[in-house]
Amino acid sequence: MDVFSDFLIIGSGIAGLSCALRLARHGKVSIITKKSKLDASTNFAQGGIAAVLGLNDSFDLHVKDTLEAGDGLCHEDVVKMVVERGPRLINELVSLGVDFKTAADTGSFDLGREGGHSRNRIVHALDVTGREVEKNLINRAEESPNITFYENHMAVDLLTRSRIFRRGAVTTESEDTCWGAYVLDAHHGRVDTFVARFTIICTGGAGKVYLYTSNPDIAGGDGMAIGFRAGVKVANMEFVQFHPTCLFHPHAKNFLISEAVRGEGGRLMDAQGCYFMEKYHPRKDLAARDIVARAIDRELKKSGADCVYLDITHRDADYLRSRFPNIYQTCLSYGIDITKDPIPVVPAAHYMCGGLVADLSARTNVNRLYAVGEAACTGLHGANRLASNSLLEALVFAEAAYQDIAAQTEENKDLLNKDFPSWDPGGATDSDESVVVTHNWDEIRRTMWNYVGIVRTTKRLIRAKHRIDNIRQEIDEYYWDFLITRDLLELRNLATVADLIVRSALIRKESRGLHYMPEYPQRDDENWSVDTVLSIYDSNHDRYR
Ligand code: SIN
Repeated sequence: MDVFSDFLIIGSGIAGLSCALRLARHGKVSIITKKSKLDASTNFAQGGIAAVLGLNDSFDLHVKDTLEAGDGLCHEDVVKMVVERGPRLINELVSLGVDFKTAADTGSFDLGREGGHSRNRIVHALDVTGREVEKNLINRAEESPNITFYENHMAVDLLTRSRIFRRGAVTTESEDTCWGAYVLDAHHGRVDTFVARFTIICTGGAGKVYLYTSNPDIAGGDGMAIGFRAGVKVANMEFVQFHPTCLFHPHAKNFLISEAVRGEGGRLMDAQGCYFMEKYHPRKDLAARDIVARAIDRELKKSGADCVYLDITHRDADYLRSRFPNIYQTCLSYGIDITKDPIPVVPAAHYMCGGLVADLSARTNVNRLYAVGEAACTGLHGANRLASNSLLEALVFAEAAYQDIAAQTEENKDLLNKDFPSWDPGGATDSDESVVVTHNWDEIRRTMWNYVGIVRTTKRLIRAKHRIDNIRQEIDEYYWDFLITRDLLELRNLATVADLIVRSALIRKESRGLHYMPEYPQRDDENWSVDTVLSIYDSNHDRYR
């Protein structure tokens, strides 16, 4: 089956929905999402969105905090653009129905504090901010006659000029053009051709590449992988953010304890009840995330304990129940009363600062292909993202992509009348060995957790590289022999992203932001204050086809 639309959006989180709502003014929008439309990382975001809305705040301060967290790698022009557009876009969300918490007396936003921020500037909907944003954006999108959701649809690969006319036609990074994607309809088990004048990758992050993560199951780096395979450059993949405080409990899967808890006075302590963050940074528990996650890692290695504890029991119990209803209830369901008990926590993979290189208009180096949100690397986050800057980035770049595309609305219209070759399954047959997929999936995640985590060494990175190389080879053989399933596609993408992270980490011979290597303990501005950029055009062109 062929589906023709003006705009193809891959992913249904804040980035995809914000693009869709704007682009729907200019034509038909198809949103493909690999599970249900609510299965987006946005839905799990707790803390909020950072924006300069307080009387004692300024753009300069937000810029400074972002640059400081980014540890010398942020692109200052991008930081300024994002920070300055923030307040207007927050108010736009309010006009779309998003109910951010306001102070009862003044009616102004109740601004929270998180690590690395010098002012209170986080707008929030208590501890379910992402859910509130996602729900409203989906409601608005469902009202639009120009937007169609395709649930249980997963992009296999992008439909590019080089793919259609065989790869010899395109030899440099900027020559290729995207015309949509081949998409697996997982319900019917067939691959459809989605043709579009413009394609926007909004697939979010890749936390699932690690064994322990705050991310939902969908976060497998699909967009990064399909983009890279299509020739989009990726940058800074070594900068994987580990959130310091995920709930540690044998039955809790991926549950985050928001940094806002530390913003409200929560303090980290060891099993003996000793608070330890003052040893590591003057901002103590509200230092930037890389510092806090490394401090916890150090304490755990020193003591051999399984977790540390986050203590907020000194705050009023009624206040905690009303400020953190979701965290309170979830912890209670595991037998932890946060008003009385310190919360057992560990760091877990949370956010990819790297991704598909996108410019100020969210354009990638492939024509008519854009990347927005966590899947992209715009230069905002540098070596470490400042808390609550991620949803903000998605809003700003969704608008930027829209503005760029809207200026070209008349272009490429004839594309929608053209025939494109259907997906060719070759001689693939049904697999009766899904155990291979499960095994490889598990091995990648364990390898990444054990060898490519918070603290890295060259020896461990090389070990990880060998394992990932073997798995990738196995997947390549398996992939072409068997009919495509969502699990197989996810595995292939996960292996690609793991490979990109490991290769980038091996390139950077210094410690900076989230990339910490004791054998190169210092930041080295002379040699390494540059993005780590990888492209299939650099060397092993065919390795990814
Ligand atoms: C949190 O609530 O701690 C997560 C916010 C973020 O990742 O920016």
